[in-house]
Amino acid sequence: MAVLKILRMGHPLLRMRSEKVDDPASNEVKRLVSNMISTLNRAKGAGLAAPQVGVLKRVVIFRVPKERIKEERNSNIVDLTVLVNPKIKILTKKKEMGWEGCLSVPGLRGIVSRFYSVRYSGYTTDGKKIIREARGFHARVVQHECDHLDGVLYPMRMKDMSSLSFTDQLDPEASDLVQARLDTAGSIR
Ligand code: NI
Repeated sequence: MAVLKILRMGHPLLRMRSEKVDDPASNEVKRLVSNMISTLNRAKGAGLAAPQVGVLKRVVIFRVPKERIKEERNSNIVDLTVLVNPKIKILTKKKEMGWEGCLSVPGLRGIVSRFYSVRYSGYTTDGKKIIREARGFHARVVQHECDHLDGVLYPMRMKDMSSLSFTDQLDPEASDLVQARLDTAGSIR
């Protein structure tokens, strides 16, 4: 297992569309996923997509950590999940604002609108199919990671750049207020 270099915003590979994987259970994919897990653990992130380590294949990994459950109602802990060739189906039109960060955009946070409830599917590296329904942060992290496979980074999804902030400058109480303001603005639109 190896910790890989994470590409940062501006690298051309992050803007490209990734290719479908022919055999999710191949040794090549298993090796990639194992290295991605080491890389995610080292970076202490919630998710990572293959293009972030310079591999244009449709592979994502993510988890919903305990810390996010306190912030999000209607959410459960989700252990590290590997999805090869993921697909997302939107279950309701309802969207929700929430803070996001990205290992390819280090040090920053921004508020992004995402679909609240989705059904997603994909394959494990054993070739088994996973189908799950997700809400809240769980749905958000899946949408964020799958965006990477189409060359989309979260700042490209932000409707209002005024929330874009350096994490170390954010006051937790003030960030709740910013989110509340944007939630209100979102419902008017
Ligand atoms: Ni990201």
